[in-house]
Amino acid sequence: MAETKKLLRALAGEVLDVPPIWMMRQAGRYLPEYRATRAQAGDFLSLCYTPDLAAEVTLQPIRRYGFDAAILFADILLVPQALGADLWFVTGEGPRLSTVTRQADFDALGPADAIDETLAPVYETLRILTRALPAEVALIGFAGAPWTVATYMIAGRGTPDQGPAHALKAENRALFEALLERITQATIGYLSRQIEAGAEVVKLFDSWAGSLQGADFDRYALEPCRQITAALKARHPSIPVIGFPREARGRYEGFARATGVDCVALDNSVDPAWAARHVQIDGCVQGNLASAHMVTGGPELIAATRAILRAFAGGPHIFNLGHGITPDADPANVQLMIDTVRGS
Ligand code: CP3
Repeated sequence: MAETKKLLRALAGEVLDVPPIWMMRQAGRYLPEYRATRAQAGDFLSLCYTPDLAAEVTLQPIRRYGFDAAILFADILLVPQALGADLWFVTGEGPRLSTVTRQADFDALGPADAIDETLAPVYETLRILTRALPAEVALIGFAGAPWTVATYMIAGRGTPDQGPAHALKAENRALFEALLERITQATIGYLSRQIEAGAEVVKLFDSWAGSLQGADFDRYALEPCRQITAALKARHPSIPVIGFPREARGRYEGFARATGVDCVALDNSVDPAWAARHVQIDGCVQGNLASAHMVTGGPELIAATRAILRAFAGGPHIFNLGHGITPDADPANVQLMIDTVRGS
């Protein structure tokens, strides 16, 4: 049967008159219905681990806007937690984790294949979603890329320059590489289980790829992404993979060829005309409207949206933001972006 989901058609390389559209963090605090369900759950992690509620918030932006894809509601930091790290969220600040900086911290982590008991509710969320989603909407699963996950595990929190992770890499490369390898293996298992539970596409978020330079980018951004993609394709050949090496700048060029991903997600620091020539020549691209437009709206939003559509019109494209939508966004601006993309 010919594929009818627009997102999957674009990922297969088809050039569509109107590209499919979804949005990073589309289930989030800018939506009143999300805030209500999150209050019902009590806290963010309870929301992630309660399948009925996680499925509900995943569906909310689909009901409100009719996006072409739903992304599983979960977090990239559930994998460290399943490996044995302590994880909690400080309201208004962000995530906190127990740190991995010494051999003893690493030795206390569990094996890569022992994560499924903790993560079982995530797989259940996906099973609920496969039944609840409209037929034309694709279901995206995801995980953090090993480098990005490691930056949080090493520092115990988000950091502006990933300093603690770079320091461990310099001081104890063996430990640093063992940690990346553990995360890589856990991620292969985690994404395989997501696919078995109903994910039709998976995305790897390497939010801090931009701080890896030169050979470090090859070793710790490209190589883990290549390994994860190859292992998933061996088990699930028909499932497309989206890579997001955020702020990779010139290293976006050749990323799909080097890793085997089907689509490269672009952040909004990338010039679409450049990306059309240097990245989209290798296949589908996703992006890359600045999420600030979801706060400011108006004619600038419309002009920037149209410029992106024009730049990528010659090849396969999935319309998205360059990073997640922020809590101060106006839900009406999301509708304006969708109307502009769909031409109504
Ligand atoms: O996109 C989606 O709608 C799917 C769900 C999703 C979340 N986080 C929900 C979330 C996805 C794909 C993520 C990925 C994620 N999580 C990344 C990679 C993408 C990126 O943004 O760069 C990272 C680095 C994290 C780690 C994380 N989770 C941080 C740093 C924070 C705090 C920052 C913030 O926005 O508050 C979170 C919390 C988080 N994850 C929220 C949501 C909706 C907000 C939590 C809340 O409701 O209070």
